[in-house]
Amino acid sequence: MTLFPGVALVTGAASGIGRATALSFAQEGCLKICICDRDAAGLQETAQQISSISKDVEVSIKEVDMLQEDQIVALMDGVVAQWGRVDYAVNAAGVVGNGQRSTSTSAAQFDLTNGVNYRGAWLMSRSELAQMLKQDPLPSHDGRPGNRGAIVNIASQLGVVGRPDAPAYCASKAAVIGMTKCDAIDYSKDNIRVNCVCPGVTATPMTQGDPVFLKKLQPAIDIAPMGRMGTAQEIADACLWLCSSKATFVQGHALVVDGGYVIN
Ligand SMILES: NC(=O)c1ccc[n+]([C@@H]2O[C@H](COP(=O)([O-])OP(=O)(O)OC[C@H]3O[C@@H](n4cnc5c(N)ncnc54)[C@H](O)[C@@H]3O)[C@@H](O)[C@H]2O)c1
Repeated sequence: MTLFPGVALVTGAASGIGRATALSFAQEGCLKICICDRDAAGLQETAQQISSISKDVEVSIKEVDMLQEDQIVALMDGVVAQWGRVDYAVNAAGVVGNGQRSTSTSAAQFDLTNGVNYRGAWLMSRSELAQMLKQDPLPSHDGRPGNRGAIVNIASQLGVVGRPDAPAYCASKAAVIGMTKCDAIDYSKDNIRVNCVCPGVTATPMTQGDPVFLKKLQPAIDIAPMGRMGTAQEIADACLWLCSSKATFVQGHALVVDGGYVIN
């Protein structure tokens, strides 16, 4: 029996952590997966990889810009028209910051980072919550009462601690953690769970695309007790657990998955 009998929705699914999460839902037996991103080619590649895992999975591909409220509203309307519900939502779309301290950061750079990472996650989770409020829980794997839905926002270890040259990014991720806790409080009475995962440095195109940036990240990798990058799969595994009925009592948590970076 799968832990995921319902509908999964993943943003940022064209790459990295979002793609690994979408593929993991397929590997774990979820049969309806909506993948969202602004990168159309990346979405096609993710869809292809899902179909090579299982031909039984229905994939809904949604090209959406997380900066655009109307597109997010239309996305949710489309998923609900197609499948009638959203049970597991992982909001992974995000951008890296501009890599400068505040006096070298323009308001436009600040707005872009926070617009995608924080406002975009808020717009998505607001739509997901609105749908989850309308649906009944699905049966759980062992008969315990299920939830109406579970949301996982991707924050960062940098939402928990600071680092040089990242004020806009760190603030955007701290905001995601704060939003997660507040939504968890507000929607507990509605039987919806909202948690976040805070990845440490993870090997994805975000960290590996630019060798100069990767070099700048090396001290953060070295500081973590485990002394290595995480994999996108290791982050996806945490997301799936939080979405599953094995986590029915986990609420408002910021699950740090970082090889120990923040405990050092
Ligand atoms: N990789 C890391 O080390 C790391 C660490 C902590 C947190 N994170 C967070 O994890 C999440 C996923 O990052 P990743 O490492 O997989 O990066 P990635 O660059 O591989 O994937 C990010 C995805 O988000 C999409 N995206 C960006 N802006 C968008 C927009 N406006 N609308 C729609 N989609 C948009 C991109 O197209 C891309 O597919 C991000 O929120 C990131 O901040 C990553």
